[in-house]
Amino acid sequence: MKIGIDRIAFATSNQFVDMAELAHARHEDPNKYLIGIGQKKMAVIPPTQDIVTMAASAANKVLGPEERAHLGMILFATESAIDNSKSAAAPLIRLLDLNPHVRVAELKQACYTGTAGLQLAKGQVALHPDQIVLVIAADIARYGLKTPGEPTQGGGAVAMTVKATPRILALEDDAAVVTKDIMDFWRPFGCDAAFVDGKYSTKVYLDFLADTFTHYQEMNGRTVDDFAALLFHLPFTKLGLKGLRQLIADADLKIGARLAQQFEAAREYGSQVGNLYTGSLYLSLISLLENSTTLRAGERIGLYSYGSGAEGEFYSGILQPGFAAQFTTRPTGQALASRKQVSVQEYEKLYDAAVHGPAESALSADDDPADFIFTGVHNHIRQYEQRGN
Ligand code: HMG
Repeated sequence: MKIGIDRIAFATSNQFVDMAELAHARHEDPNKYLIGIGQKKMAVIPPTQDIVTMAASAANKVLGPEERAHLGMILFATESAIDNSKSAAAPLIRLLDLNPHVRVAELKQACYTGTAGLQLAKGQVALHPDQIVLVIAADIARYGLKTPGEPTQGGGAVAMTVKATPRILALEDDAAVVTKDIMDFWRPFGCDAAFVDGKYSTKVYLDFLADTFTHYQEMNGRTVDDFAALLFHLPFTKLGLKGLRQLIADADLKIGARLAQQFEAAREYGSQVGNLYTGSLYLSLISLLENSTTLRAGERIGLYSYGSGAEGEFYSGILQPGFAAQFTTRPTGQALASRKQVSVQEYEKLYDAAVHGPAESALSADDDPADFIFTGVHNHIRQYEQRGN
């Protein structure tokens, strides 16, 4: 039985900061951010958006009548949890008016768990072929202002439905995984921004790529020639480019050039959003499917997932007949193009205004056109509303 991604959608805020402007404000050469890091724009997440609101917006795009009728489980991958106890999936039941007879849980292992969600969903569907699983990967990537990590922030949510006979990508059975106890990036309780050993984290990312790809090849004898495209977790797009160069170092020049061309299509949206931790690899999949003109059904895509702390996985999937139909209008590209630009000063103000912890607050959402809004905290309870209801 083929099992995999049937529908996929992305949501983020309606505003961004330009990376050349941010570089000027930080007294850096703009090319450091544009070329050296590989980022053109960075999503700025206002206080009225969080993982729940962005997840609701993304999930709303993939849940039609069939998905709602067969929904058996929601797996919410995030490292931007809004509560120590309650899963961020639970508010989605009310906000999206879902059938409550559904299993929900939140998953954590840094940026890796979007992939954990997909693989667990695949197991669930193998046991219950009539069920559809909703996998959410939502985060807000936050480092300190004026730190080296600052230009690698961003945020957003990817929603994917996983089912039998999927219409986009059937997952293959030979995932290669590695996990080690490593301190490259972490966020202790009480800290709203991550601590990171930046250079070391990029080394571990590339080492885990070498480890998992070698293990994947040992299982099935495939080489890079067997892939139509290779996708990477993109904390910043230059690191994915380094990963690609590592994998194609010994490949035939023509194959290397073809994979490099697909990588440009795959990194476009990441370069306009920034890191969204758990969802970054899957935003790259959307970017590839909307922006590549040469992919064909039956071709194999390789995916490298990485989460600090640290876990890596290389796995693959086969594009399914009719996969392109969901991407012809380029919905994510259009949404990104309609965002408004904010100045560096406005971005800094919004960064400082983010609500963390249980303090009482009431937020004005006049400037936020999203359908789902975080309106503040009352009696230690986060308040959400759906516009129009
Ligand atoms: P930095 O140390 O300020 O930057 O921050 P740099 O000095 O290394 O420069 C970056 C690149 O720009 C270099 O290229 C420079 O040469 C180049 P490279 O040598 O790497 O090829 N450069 C220029 N290029 C063109 N024109 C110029 C110019 N100037 C310089 N004028 C760092 C970089 C990654 C350390 C920082 O951004 C950071 O700490 N980021 C956060 C950590 C991160 O994203 N790590 C990625 C791996 S870990 C991961 O993926 C997991 C994660 O997503 C979290 C999770 O799992 O939950 C982060």
